[in-house]
Amino acid sequence: MGKALDGVKILDFTHVQSGPTCTQLLAWFGADVIKVEKAGEGDATRGQLRDVPDADSLYFTMLNHNKRSITLDTKNPKGKEVLVTLIKQCDVMVENFAPGALDRMGFSWERIQEINPRIILASVKGFGPGPYVDCKVYENVAQCAGGSASTSGFADGPPMVTGAQIGDSGTGLHLALGIVTALYQREQTGRGQKVLAAMQDAVLNLCRVKLRDQQRLERTGVLKEYPQFPDIEFGDAVPRAGNSSGGGQPGSILKCKGWQKDPNAYIYFITQAAVWPAICKIIDEESWITDPHYATPAARLPHLKSIFARIEEWTKTKTKFEAMDILNEFDIPCGPILSMKEIAEDQSLRDTGTVVEVDHPTRGKYLTVGNPIKMSDSPTEVTRSPLLGEHTEEVMKQMGYGDVQIAELRASKVI
Ligand code: COA
Repeated sequence: MGKALDGVKILDFTHVQSGPTCTQLLAWFGADVIKVEKAGEGDATRGQLRDVPDADSLYFTMLNHNKRSITLDTKNPKGKEVLVTLIKQCDVMVENFAPGALDRMGFSWERIQEINPRIILASVKGFGPGPYVDCKVYENVAQCAGGSASTSGFADGPPMVTGAQIGDSGTGLHLALGIVTALYQREQTGRGQKVLAAMQDAVLNLCRVKLRDQQRLERTGVLKEYPQFPDIEFGDAVPRAGNSSGGGQPGSILKCKGWQKDPNAYIYFITQAAVWPAICKIIDEESWITDPHYATPAARLPHLKSIFARIEEWTKTKTKFEAMDILNEFDIPCGPILSMKEIAEDQSLRDTGTVVEVDHPTRGKYLTVGNPIKMSDSPTEVTRSPLLGEHTEEVMKQMGYGDVQIAELRASKVI
């Protein structure tokens, strides 16, 4: 079967996490992704957080599947010539260098357009135009500047970053959408364009509901579904809400059987209005179905802490999986807190290709996250990440370079 992006050629100038997640997705959709790495060095993540001596790290392998790797010194004049050929032959160039690096290399957007007016130049940067436009940025900086850290954590604790890599992988996802949209527009215009995904913007986009709450707070002075209500006064900015649900259906993380020893014996429990009577029956508080203090969502808001404490008395008598089974029978929205160990061992995630085992020539078998987007006409087969420069010769030949030219470039360490 063909793939959605068959025939699309990507010049992948990305490194670390944000850019590579984007190009990995495009590769999974069928694009030919040629990763250009510094000769002799490669993407810094190949050597970071190594668990197998001298083998590419999981950091690298898990972000660079289904790509080809070529090495090229793009600061050398001969290397620049090769880069020009690549730009001529590719549909998209993706990069996430520090601000200005591409210009310093001699490849401004104007120059790239001159070389190939159909090419799409897609960039991840930490910030868009503004006071921080020139800053280098990593994941947690983006989480802090995008509004996530100030709204995560508990009210009595410091701002908190999350384990989900919303700054890096989140921005990579945004950029991938920008790229396919630009490819679609190119069908009509025949022209490429510049696509920018700033990490601050992507994180803020994912924190949209908190900007919603900021405006609700300014208008009404209170956020009744937040754990601060009704005991603690609100300030002028959205406070941290702990594990409370961000939506209009109050929820919380509750202890389950075994919580004293197992740090993940917890369940997320949502007191969705539609199933309130079922919840009351399960926890043996049937009078709450009609009691005016509990009967409506608005009446329940001031009592959420005691309501969840009562539900927790029940969840503590069940394992998280037993509780899931019982609650699901009544359509009560809930979810077990799964550890990475449990996720790695979950057969259903293996069956759908969301967790995949991959074999690698120098590090052996390892687990990775496959394509989270499933398409009926464009299936994903996850193949291992390339070794540094594994495809240099193959790609150079496809670009029209002969054996003698390739040998010369190798001898002068350009490739
Ligand atoms: N041949 C020769 N030189 C190369 C090259 C190649 N194939 N590929 C890259 N380089 C050079 C660049 O031109 C740059 O040179 P310069 O500084 O002289 O202009 C240099 O390598 C380093 O690039 P840079 O991006 O500055 O790397 P860094 O390790 O110092 O910074 C980041 C890393 C991630 C902080 C930075 O790239 C960044 O802020 N990127 C944008 C935001 C982002 O994506 N952050 C998330 C990362 S997960």
